[in-house]
Amino acid sequence: MSAPKKLFIKTYGCQMNVYDSERMAEALEGYEQTQSPDDADMILLNTCHIREKAAEKVYSELGRYKVLKDAKPDLKIGVAGCVAQAEGQEIMRRQPLVDLVVGPQSYHRLPEMEARTHNGAKVVDTDFPEEDKFEHLKARPKAKRGPSAFLTVQEGCDKFCAFCVVPYTRGAEVSRPVDRILTEARDLVERGVREITLLGQNVNAYHGASSQGEQSLAQLIWALDKVDGLERIRFTTSHPNDMTDELIEAHGTCDKLMPYLHLPVQSGSDHILKRMNRSHTRDSYIRLIERIREARPDILLSGDFIVGFPEESDQDFADTMDLIREVNYGQAYSFKYSPRPGTPAAERGEVDAAVADARLQELQALIAHQQKTIQDSMVGREVDVLFEKPGRDAGQMMGKSGYLHAVHVADCTAQRGDIRKVLITESQRNSLAGRLV
Ligand code: 5AD
Ligand code: SF4
Repeated sequence: MSAPKKLFIKTYGCQMNVYDSERMAEALEGYEQTQSPDDADMILLNTCHIREKAAEKVYSELGRYKVLKDAKPDLKIGVAGCVAQAEGQEIMRRQPLVDLVVGPQSYHRLPEMEARTHNGAKVVDTDFPEEDKFEHLKARPKAKRGPSAFLTVQEGCDKFCAFCVVPYTRGAEVSRPVDRILTEARDLVERGVREITLLGQNVNAYHGASSQGEQSLAQLIWALDKVDGLERIRFTTSHPNDMTDELIEAHGTCDKLMPYLHLPVQSGSDHILKRMNRSHTRDSYIRLIERIREARPDILLSGDFIVGFPEESDQDFADTMDLIREVNYGQAYSFKYSPRPGTPAAERGEVDAAVADARLQELQALIAHQQKTIQDSMVGREVDVLFEKPGRDAGQMMGKSGYLHAVHVADCTAQRGDIRKVLITESQRNSLAGRLV
């Protein structure tokens, strides 16, 4: 048997891309992953198109591989993900180094595409095929893996927020059938996984087929709750309008469902929410948060915010800051609005860039303050930590609390995959420290 070839995958963007990269690596038989492009036989960029300059970043990264390809003409270079979907053939026109371009819905065809490149072919596949890619992907090999894993259960989006490319790059909303998800989850558990994060662009809109008819995300969570050896369940990312009563209730009653929820609101101004086509209001979001906190008082909330959306006035921005104060987030992602070609908002006038920059800074400072305050409040508490890997110092281990805080324990006797009680003794910049109880 010949030695395995080396595959270097660089992943941009969201957690779904991280999952897709894992699946692509597994699908490419005869390759093993390398951490450096320098010794790779194949380089694959798994790209993201959600904000501006994504495509430009990909082109400049590709340009850097010219020296490698000159030195090793057999080196194959591929572009996957949402930039591949959006740009298609254009990528090869602009960067002739590229051998293959594969969209996020057709990467199960990657092995066969890769084979074709060896005959010198340039291959592009950005179809939205009828068949389910997950069904056609090779089964995950039985190799051991880390205790925390992603599992994509739903893809695409039908919401059409005015700023977002996802409905165009990832297509319409599709849910995977329940039994396939359960099979994959059991397989992950056999390989050492104890925590699964269910992924979907609109994960709480999940509605997967099963022998008992269509099942919701809450029902899927309860089915996963019965999987022996699986200790923790998370899901991301959710839309406020799809937070059903049964899902809220599950946060109060399902012990395996972790007390953390990422629930993007984007803006605190009703005028902007309307222009964003979000179909919820500031008030409905706040009432929703209240209900979630009634079900699970200690839940840590996370969100997404866009500042500088077209027409955002000082008052609109003040409303967003107000909402943040009212909700009190443990963590959040925030972005300056970036016009995406083909989306409705891209046709509208832009907010002055300096104004948007200043707003972003102000918002991030507030979030950072809330995040640190909540983190500090953990000191003196005992929390369950799932240990994931050794820390930077000798004898130290790093794990995650149920609230998704990184926790470091020095002189730690816990092993990777153990869940142990830890007394939090210190709140550092972006993590906690503690000792085993
Ligand atoms: N500009 C800025 N931020 C965006 N997001 C999505 N599209 C854009 C855009 N055009 C943000 C949203 C979304 C997150 C994944 O990325 O906040 O929730
Ligand atoms: Fe984009 Fe809105 Fe769909 Fe989220 S809900 S993926 S922001 S269109």
